[in-house]
Amino acid sequence: MQPCISASIMCADLMNMEYHLKELERCGCEYIHVDIMDGVFVPNYTLGTDFIRQLHQTTKIPLDLHLMVEAPEDKLDYFELFPEDVVSIHVESTRHLQKALSKIRKRGAKASAALNPATPVCYLDYLYDDLDMVLVMTVNPGFAGQKMIPSTLEKITQIKKRLTERGRRDVPVEADGNVSFENAVKMAKAGADIFVAGTSSIYRQELPFEDCVKEFRKAILAV
Ligand code: DX5
Ligand code: ZN
Repeated sequence: MQPCISASIMCADLMNMEYHLKELERCGCEYIHVDIMDGVFVPNYTLGTDFIRQLHQTTKIPLDLHLMVEAPEDKLDYFELFPEDVVSIHVESTRHLQKALSKIRKRGAKASAALNPATPVCYLDYLYDDLDMVLVMTVNPGFAGQKMIPSTLEKITQIKKRLTERGRRDVPVEADGNVSFENAVKMAKAGADIFVAGTSSIYRQELPFEDCVKEFRKAILAV
């Protein structure tokens, strides 16, 4: 599977969105990672429904929606979803996980389960037919700029192994959190396919954006 970049747009300068979207298109980023937080599942708020609608009007890049919200199955209808969008819901955020994942697919988008750093891989055991991606949180959710939790690397490997054993090699594993140039290499070696690029890679202030994306792409392709 070709490694892909999912740019964490909450880490961009939100006052210059038009510029950032053009840059993402020009640099060939495969996804735009949109973090949505409800202040309950995580102690923070970020981007919302109108922002997503305007993203769909402004760019063709598929959206990688990361819902850090309680009871996501009750809120999915708030969001405009396109067929090429992926929607990740947290396994810790609902009692009805399989139903919530099926609802994403019924809405025409791709379904993904997200796991917090402490959540064991066995949460996925009865979901392998319902998944189009798995999102592995390599930091605790809620904020950008945190440090990767090393034990999550082994978790990426475990999930990749189980997906292969169940004939779902087609399902990509996404690493989300402190995906720096050096951590991206470790995550790629562990088996990650999609890399959420935020403040520790493409949105670093001190380097020009295009150089950051080039260096990041080199890092994930080198593995
Ligand atoms: C954190 C979000 C991440 C975050 C990534 O809850 O899920 O997508 O924005 O930012 P960095 O790359 O700074 O960890
Ligand atoms: Zn995220």
